[in-house]
Amino acid sequence: MTTDSLTFIIFGVILAQILIASALVFYRHKRKYREFDAQETVHTRVSKLLPQVSKPKEEMFVQESFWEGFKEFSVQRRELEDNNHSICSFYLIPLDGKPLPVFKPGQFLTFKLLIEDLVTHESKNVVRCYSLSDAPHPDYYRISIKQVPAPINKLDVPPGLSSSFFHDQVQKGSKVLVKAPSGHFHLMENKHLPIVLIGGGIGITPMLSILNTVLEQEANIDVWLYYGIRNGDEHIMKAHLQALAREHDNFHLHVCYSAPNESDVDGIDYQHNARVGIPLLRATLKLMRYQFYICGPKPMMESLVPKLEDWGVKRDDIYYESFGPATLNKHKKTAQVMSSGHLINITFSKIGKSIQWDPAADSLLEFAEANNIVVESGCRAGSCGSCQTALKDGEVDYNQEPDADVSPGHCLLCISKPNSNLILEL
Ligand SMILES: Cc1cc2nc3c(=O)[nH]c(=O)nc-3n(C[C@H](O)[C@H](O)[C@H](O)COP(=O)(O)OP(=O)(O)OC[C@H]3O[C@@H](n4cnc5c(N)ncnc54)[C@H](O)[C@@H]3O)c2cc1C
Ligand code: FES
Repeated sequence: MTTDSLTFIIFGVILAQILIASALVFYRHKRKYREFDAQETVHTRVSKLLPQVSKPKEEMFVQESFWEGFKEFSVQRRELEDNNHSICSFYLIPLDGKPLPVFKPGQFLTFKLLIEDLVTHESKNVVRCYSLSDAPHPDYYRISIKQVPAPINKLDVPPGLSSSFFHDQVQKGSKVLVKAPSGHFHLMENKHLPIVLIGGGIGITPMLSILNTVLEQEANIDVWLYYGIRNGDEHIMKAHLQALAREHDNFHLHVCYSAPNESDVDGIDYQHNARVGIPLLRATLKLMRYQFYICGPKPMMESLVPKLEDWGVKRDDIYYESFGPATLNKHKKTAQVMSSGHLINITFSKIGKSIQWDPAADSLLEFAEANNIVVESGCRAGSCGSCQTALKDGEVDYNQEPDADVSPGHCLLCISKPNSNLILEL
């Protein structure tokens, strides 16, 4: 046998061994993934059949039911959370002193605030939603609010109304009107899959609520948190998150700074000098099935959610929330004409006006406002229910799933467009 053929045989044997080892690793991962899939299906089937017998956290609470309308709360304390002093937490206690009902981690509170307009000096009601940022506790609710400045190129417009009001005027002892927790974005109690939480900027708030709940309940489930911010100046709850990571083996913390400061220490203050994206998730997550919860700025959501699906994550395993009007489902163009060829007309029955629909409008709310028709609104994201309007005739398409519960025969103007001629009770 020549040296060449011996080298060739040795090389072939090594290559075959590498291939067999890779196939074995891949097969084991795949089997683990399938086992999760099967466990999940069985859990889901069983939990649909059986009453929920063990909810340890909720048993600590008196099972109060949610209140109707707005209820008065007092601010027990406030705490600045970041070096920039742009995020502040508010601890709220009910004035009636009753124990607070349990919410689902990830849900939000809706506030009605009486705020003086800095230009006209007239007071007006402003409705806004803020996610609960801690696990449910019977004695307080916590929210964490980022003060929204005026856009960089529009310094002549006022800064965010509600967030500035909270930061500048809501102090210890201030009273606020609060609607009961609501929202369809929350931890899925019956889903027994490892959890991946992704929070960008202030989108960390619902993730904190989910994380704190899961770890407080000592549920034997692995949780990954990917927290994307620019640098240490924006980092909130740093000591709390680091303590949780030290104390819980099942919690895996990944803080990502996209533009660290010189004083930020890699490996201590943050784990990755990167944005949260698929390459990072691929590099740090094992190949198995997870449930993903995502909340962050529009560009992050618009890129991450479709890419997760491209990566192979099932649509049913991705839950996301946007703090403003989401554009993720806005692929559908609205028609200017109906299938009959007629132009679409919107009739406002109370004021007796009929106006031709403008397909450039993002929503019926925007269209109404552009035509000087006053509509009550708050979140402009389908969450608070303020813009709910009776639909006397016609059909609408939603840009995204409504988060607020919509009464039969009504629609949310802020996230809908007409699908036919409409008669709105306005
Ligand atoms: C379900 C949900 C949960 C949320 N959770 C949180 C949370 O946990 N924490 C949090 O901080 N936020 C959260 N938000 C966002 C929050 O509800 C508010 O949208 C946010 O605080 C901004 O409201 P604002 O009243 O301060 O700003 P707005 O008054 O609504 O102003 C928004 C922006 O528009 C600019 N603006 C004002 N007037 C004009 C004009 N004429 N022309 C151009 N621009 C103008 C302002 O300067 C500002 O930049 C959540 C939203 C939703 C829907
Ligand atoms: S404005 Fe909040 S649901 Fe439309």
